[in-house]
Amino acid sequence: MSSQNTSIHGEWSSRLAFIFAATGSAVGLGNIWKFPYITGENGGGAFVIVYLICVFMICMPVMMAEIMLGRRGRHSPVNTMRALAQETGRSRGWQVLGWMGVLAGLLILSYYSVIAGWALAYIPRLASGLFTTVNTLPPEEVNQFVSLKFSDLITDPIQLLGWHSIFIIATILMVAGGVQKGLERAVQVMMPALFIVLLILVFYAMTTDKFMTGLHFMFDVNFKQLFYPHCETTTNCQFSGQGVLSAMGQAFFSLSLGMGSIMVYGAYLPRHASIAQTTAVVVLADTVVAILAGLVIFPIVFSHGLAPAQGPGLVFNTLPIAFGQMPAGSLFGALFFLLLTLAAATSAISLLEPATAWLVETGKFNRPWAAITCGLVSWLIGLATVFSFNIWREVTPLAMFAKFEGKTLFDLLDFLTANVMLPLGGFFIAIFVAWLMNNQKVAEELDAATQDRSYRFWRFLLRYVTPVGIGLVFLNVIGVIS
Ligand code: PFF
Repeated sequence: MSSQNTSIHGEWSSRLAFIFAATGSAVGLGNIWKFPYITGENGGGAFVIVYLICVFMICMPVMMAEIMLGRRGRHSPVNTMRALAQETGRSRGWQVLGWMGVLAGLLILSYYSVIAGWALAYIPRLASGLFTTVNTLPPEEVNQFVSLKFSDLITDPIQLLGWHSIFIIATILMVAGGVQKGLERAVQVMMPALFIVLLILVFYAMTTDKFMTGLHFMFDVNFKQLFYPHCETTTNCQFSGQGVLSAMGQAFFSLSLGMGSIMVYGAYLPRHASIAQTTAVVVLADTVVAILAGLVIFPIVFSHGLAPAQGPGLVFNTLPIAFGQMPAGSLFGALFFLLLTLAAATSAISLLEPATAWLVETGKFNRPWAAITCGLVSWLIGLATVFSFNIWREVTPLAMFAKFEGKTLFDLLDFLTANVMLPLGGFFIAIFVAWLMNNQKVAEELDAATQDRSYRFWRFLLRYVTPVGIGLVFLNVIGVIS
């Protein structure tokens, strides 16, 4: 096999189109919804530092490896792994990595779509001027008003179901459109637009009196808080690697790694595009957007006396306050949630693509039917998340383990995918590429020579740092060492 083959699914029209698509996959709810709230839950600065270390030392090498695998295999993750295992003379068992990716994609999409539905629901809410009321309320009632509006939404299963369904249908339509028509077009306009609106919001955050407090929260490093999370409230000061696991899981999640999204996008990459440069652009864009989102959210949190550790509702309980108060806030607010929904959509299509591409390759489905089938599976699993915020709020299936006490089905799905499946996928990708594949061929695929310094550094990271780093965090959390 060689990467000269083209994919049966088509190809990106250029390297730039791939950069847009991969950035579209990476930048999404993970940056704007999730990064701020788990930073808040894990105490700020130290978490951010560990996150950045994971991004650059562990995830960036994995991203290059994943794109490289995809481009060499030219198929869905399942068939790419099968072909490459064969080419390398390894067991067909490596195909499992592809299967795990397909499954992780459908599971993530199931809850991703529900949260994207929240963003969708906020577009008409802001456009209608709902939050301008904030200006007329006494300061102490502002938070209550905004959080009431949020809980009105998430406690209503019918509304959530409606928005979830709309979002999945839109995702299916885009994936059904195929590589160039559907996927490419969607990303090119909204990525720059999202960036601009975020910058406007950063300027707004600078005008609040707590901008510096937000900055300190995000960048003051206090490792004690990360490693001994309950120390201030109890006398039980036990070491915990949980925060580091969350940071690592978030890095994989945010960069769409470990499950085949980036691999399948790599499969559509033209032969002569530089993988290293492309990776650098995507990683940088993703990181900047996450940090900007934090810089917007935390000053608002502190200037209104809100709790940074309030969980998944954080963005929805903070930004409407800001939009309610700024001039033309209804317009900007509606625009912001529209862009957030679009950013989520360009990530969602990459979650659906691995499973869809695989079904097409079985020869039994055309693209539209493959997309509909996979989308339907995700939609169904998504019901678990829809109900986790209302009628199944008390359903906590793993409550017998102290660590999972109070965790809803949504929490468990999120933990399983982001913190377990993605890093595990990354671990095996690193082992396969850096230990099992032929060094010469890998270098060739990356347009490098095996003795190049940068190539050797990348391979060193992938051989040692990535697997050992992921392994240690896992072992620690399982409790083997601590
Ligand atoms: N990276 C996306 C985000 O940050 O919102 C989410 C995601 C997409 C995760 C694709 C995993 C994936 F394969």
